Amino acid sequence: MCGIVGYTGPREAYPIIIKGLKRLEYRGYDSTGVALQSSTGLKVYKKKGKVAELEESIVGKDLHANVGIGHTRWATHGEPSDRNAHPHQSASGKLAMIHNGIIENYTQLKKELVSKGYEFSSDTDTEVLLNFIEEIKKNNECSLEEAVRVALKRVTGAYVILLLDEDNPDTIIAARKGSPLVIGVGKGEHFLGSDASPMLEYTKEVVYVNDYELAIIKPDELILKNLGNEKITPYVQKLDLELAAIEKGGYEHFMLKEIFEQPQTIFDCLRGRLDAEAGTITMSGIQQYADQIINANRIVMVACGTSWHAGLIAEYIFEELCRINVEVEYASEFRYRNPVINKGDVIIAISQSGETADTLVAIDNAKEKGAIILGVVNVVGSSIARTSHGGAYTHAGPEIGVASTKAFTAQLAVLTMIALKVGYMKGTISQERYMHLLKELNEIPEKVAWTLKQSDAVKAIAEKYKDARDFLYLGRGYNFPVALEGALKLKEISYIHAEGYPAAEMKHGPIALVDKDLPVVFVATKDTYHEKVVSNMQEIKARKGMVISVITEGDEVSTELSNDVMIVPEADEILAPMLSVIPLQLLSYYIGVAKGCDVDKPRNLAKSVTVE
Ligand code: AGP
Repeated sequence: MCGIVGYTGPREAYPIIIKGLKRLEYRGYDSTGVALQSSTGLKVYKKKGKVAELEESIVGKDLHANVGIGHTRWATHGEPSDRNAHPHQSASGKLAMIHNGIIENYTQLKKELVSKGYEFSSDTDTEVLLNFIEEIKKNNECSLEEAVRVALKRVTGAYVILLLDEDNPDTIIAARKGSPLVIGVGKGEHFLGSDASPMLEYTKEVVYVNDYELAIIKPDELILKNLGNEKITPYVQKLDLELAAIEKGGYEHFMLKEIFEQPQTIFDCLRGRLDAEAGTITMSGIQQYADQIINANRIVMVACGTSWHAGLIAEYIFEELCRINVEVEYASEFRYRNPVINKGDVIIAISQSGETADTLVAIDNAKEKGAIILGVVNVVGSSIARTSHGGAYTHAGPEIGVASTKAFTAQLAVLTMIALKVGYMKGTISQERYMHLLKELNEIPEKVAWTLKQSDAVKAIAEKYKDARDFLYLGRGYNFPVALEGALKLKEISYIHAEGYPAAEMKHGPIALVDKDLPVVFVATKDTYHEKVVSNMQEIKARKGMVISVITEGDEVSTELSNDVMIVPEADEILAPMLSVIPLQLLSYYIGVAKGCDVDKPRNLAKSVTVE
């Protein structure tokens, strides 16, 4: 997710753009840049770092312009750096472009351009698309608009692009597919943004650009067309949202927004990698270490917090599908206890931020001892990503809420794809089960969307139990780490004490805690362990405990035994955690809100723990 801003009109463009970028930093913040168009030509200023750092670095430069575009980046291709920052300029220097999205076939396009003598100054897919557009314009001697149309018909993936052309100084060309673009309509001026926050103070008249539409924008003219060059009448709407609400996409908190983003973020995580029809999983950062993984004596998952819970689930998945011994280590313990690490061990470091100090040092130590380090990380170009030999990004976009939600399910999606890929290559999973799991994995985004539609029922349960002083979370098998994750979410968001436990372990002591005031949350989706979990529910009921259960749709037995239920769709037990965690995320969120907690910034916590 990146933030994009544009302006064309009578005002100075730069102040509008830089302020708009600051409002969009929640969408990405690893590098930023502006391109300004004036009578002295095209000027591009860009650098790694936040918007304020760019602003400071160009004080005193020639910033006069009435047309401009700006970009704050969330890296997907090419790590955060000055050279990979947007805007990019074409080979001729006459075009400047910013882009939000992923061009999936950029490698092919780049090969074609290199064969024609093009050279590239960045590692980005954006620079490839820009020069592809310029090559078409040059070759066909056509307009820039026509060249964009032709180029976008060749492109696969998602994009919003804003283009400046030195030969048409007052015009911005924009196009979108899969990423958001809003055009603000002013009097003799137009504004552009990833959302309406950069334009809200200037106009509340907006046009939402749809997929496969292209816009040619001048100060006093907005032309909208489809890729077939047919004109479309712009539908101008009146905005009734306030600024703060827009940055949160209309949600009250970033945490709730990110919980509801999960159908899209899991889809983004699978896109370009999982092909359930063809039965392929494409992950170049894993493929190049496939032999080491297949022949590893053991795999060690190293992480902290929620990411550690993802590692626990991955342990069950890898051992089931790959028949490789897996250990899961708290990074903080692993780094200090002088662990036995043999050459050829594979370490999988799991981290949303990619900057967690304990995890970073743990893998540094392991790397020195000859282990192969694979990173499953969300922030592109982060320290853990750069320290790892290989790995795969989770592509969940910036996670602003301190409590990790969408990053967790994206971690599970990536780890599941790795295990499926390795198990299939190793021959420890049958073709039939492999294809079945690929098909089911492909359906997870929809099933998460279905689960999110049950949010009102979860909200009612949160109201009912929000004053409890303690909670127990219980699960077995793949759902045991989900129970741990649910307990952590409740603790960190509502400050209520909660403990996750293997359901079967209750009888070895903790069942002494159970009485009529103790809510016990069972993660009890239909799986190999279901009958045993039902017995555990009966043990709790017999002691007057209150049973709240996450159950598979249609599970009458568990419904009968539970005081309250939260329903998820049927799914293979290996994939079920991506569903069963959703009601627990919502439960912690709604209880936290009901208790008046700061759910986006809980007390004592930080989004990234870069200290020991
Ligand atoms: C999760 O809700 C917490 N905020 C925290 O446990 C987090 O998962 C942990 O600090 C690890 O962070 P990382 O994934 O960025 O390494």
